[in-house]
Amino acid sequence: MTKIERLGVVGGGQMGGGIAEVGARAGLDVIVREIDDDAARAARSRLWKSLNRAVQKGKLTEAERDATQERLHFTTTLADLDDRDMVIEAIAEDEGLKLALFEELDELLTDPEAILASNTSSIPIAKLAGATKRPDKVIGVHFFNPVPVLNLVELVPSLLTSEETVKRARGFATEQLGKETIRAEDRSGFIVNALLVPYLLSAIRMFEAGHASAEDIDNGMVQGCAHPMGPLRLSDMVGLDTLKAIADSMYQEYAEPTYAAPPLLKRMVDAGIKGKKTGAGFYDY
Ligand code: CAA
Repeated sequence: MTKIERLGVVGGGQMGGGIAEVGARAGLDVIVREIDDDAARAARSRLWKSLNRAVQKGKLTEAERDATQERLHFTTTLADLDDRDMVIEAIAEDEGLKLALFEELDELLTDPEAILASNTSSIPIAKLAGATKRPDKVIGVHFFNPVPVLNLVELVPSLLTSEETVKRARGFATEQLGKETIRAEDRSGFIVNALLVPYLLSAIRMFEAGHASAEDIDNGMVQGCAHPMGPLRLSDMVGLDTLKAIADSMYQEYAEPTYAAPPLLKRMVDAGIKGKKTGAGFYDY
């Protein structure tokens, strides 16, 4: 199995940045593509902060941090990713944007064996594959936030993905990044979000109905079920806009009320209140 040596990551937000970090820490040469210079600078500064925190916690030596930083490159030019063995897309959950990106990446990647992966949580992999001329090499590789901490990667082959691609993606996630993998069918939400998102939306509905305070809802699940964080704080961490986009796409797939975004979530997103990254959500940050 040919290892992945040159990794491209499109989108340097919390997911893309985390994927780039674990890739570079595992010894891969990584290029992160952001949309403009400001976004690239912000992505780089978040990554450097995270690596410095790892040094402070004794998880990384200063020499390892420096070597990791040397393996991380930032660009605003998509064509700089042309020599990559694998590109992981981690942009916003917007189907139109993703389809255009997959079409462009497919054309510019010089290695016909290169894998085109998506970190999407809810958009069908088959649709992304359909935008390319290499549908057998398109796969969902879904990480969890915070990527450096959570050990799981969901592998999501579409009906057109080859077993060879699944094997290569599994080897990349397990042998190279040291993560565990689970395999899911190409259905919106895969395994984890299909279970998690209805739970998060139920907590928002409970809060919206005035049933309990945000603190008590969260405390209930932290103290009563030993979850590391409550559903409203977790929604803030995922990003309320991202949560809404995932819910919308799952509602479109299954047409079941359990996936429908509650009005409060929609209004918060309309108002620009998107959780931790904007400084406010169900809590202030
Ligand atoms: N990057 C790197 N390391 C981080 C980190 C980050 N962003 N955030 C926390 N950590 C590390 C800390 O350094 C710390 O490490 P040590 O134990 O070695 O010191 C450890 O994680 C615990 O962190 P803290 O002590 O700061 O805080 P905590 O104990 O409250 O843990 C948490 C924070 C890891 C986020 C934890 O609360 C948690 O796991 N929460 C649940 C997260 C979750 O459910 N994620 C899934 C979201 S769904 C998703 O991602 C999919 C999707 O498509 C929506």
